[in-house]
Amino acid sequence: LNDLDDLELMGRLDPAGMLQRIAELPLQCQEAQGSLEGIEIPAHYAQARNVVIAGMGGSAIGGELVQGLIEGECRVPVMVRRDYGLPAFVGEDSLVIASSYSGNTEETLSAARCALHRGTKLLAISTGGRIMELARKHAIPWVTLSYDSVPRAAVGHSFTILLSILQSLGFISQRPQELAEAIEEMHSLQDEIRPEVPGKDNPAKALAEKLYGRMAIVYGAQHLAAVARRWKGQFNENAKAWSFFEEFPELNHNALEGYQFPVPFAKETLVAMLSSSLYHPRIGERLRVTGEVLDQHRVEHLKLEAWGASPLAQVLTAVHFGDYVSAYLAMLYGVNPSPNPAIDHLKQRLGRK
Ligand code: F6R
Repeated sequence: LNDLDDLELMGRLDPAGMLQRIAELPLQCQEAQGSLEGIEIPAHYAQARNVVIAGMGGSAIGGELVQGLIEGECRVPVMVRRDYGLPAFVGEDSLVIASSYSGNTEETLSAARCALHRGTKLLAISTGGRIMELARKHAIPWVTLSYDSVPRAAVGHSFTILLSILQSLGFISQRPQELAEAIEEMHSLQDEIRPEVPGKDNPAKALAEKLYGRMAIVYGAQHLAAVARRWKGQFNENAKAWSFFEEFPELNHNALEGYQFPVPFAKETLVAMLSSSLYHPRIGERLRVTGEVLDQHRVEHLKLEAWGASPLAQVLTAVHFGDYVSAYLAMLYGVNPSPNPAIDHLKQRLGRK
């Protein structure tokens, strides 16, 4: 177990600067607001009757965070697609946004090709790669994601770009004030959880220490359900740790019953519940009773109250917090948070198709 207050050791474990990328989340959101400048999105894209965001892993989560946020407002259905091809309902009156940091992810390319084939309105987001080539060849609007990191660490860019696209097409209202406040909230949260703040005063370090040696199960609801998935992904990819996520209220109809077996799992698990004053009041009740059931099974659990007044601020600050926890957990395990050798191995084994 490494000492999280040993900044020199942390620096050695993080040669690619994951902690720095994490610290830049507010800056990413700030900068990415200008990403659509100079990009011509055809006016008829605003007539789309449904929106499909196609992407995988770190390039899908931004879409899911956006989707969870705007569900109550957006006048057309927005779906996040993580698979080859596209569902049958996607056609000429759909808008497909293909999001891939590298631009080379085969599932996302497959969805983009399928969209071209069906004459769908198509937009691409990437740093370059084959998606960019495809967009150039077919004169499709391509938004450059310019941020040097591993894909998952560029979430501020992909999130803000997707939000801006939906805003500029008029599917949702502009929210510059809310975004500015969310950025402020992230900065103040950072003052409490950055590496320089010692463990005894640092809630992100404290949570990482609790998670050390345990399986992290993350529960979220409504606008924070996608954040639960983000935490799970970050625990997997940064800390190389087992982690899963569940959503309220659905988990109350199945997972709740599954805390008994195998018996040793109970003491090797920690359930982190993302809580919000903005949840439907019945969801708050569900969190409370779920905590009681977990107690009965002696499963350790904790509740994290989201920061910020707006759903947007809560989503971004909760992502920010979880990202820090995942990096600290990586360091407790003594692993470099940046590389993903298993994912790279799999992509290499499958070869390019
Ligand atoms: C790596 C990561 C992965 C990738 C995924 C898709 O940091 O988060 O989940 O995002 O393998 O690759 P891209 O983003 O290049 O389409």
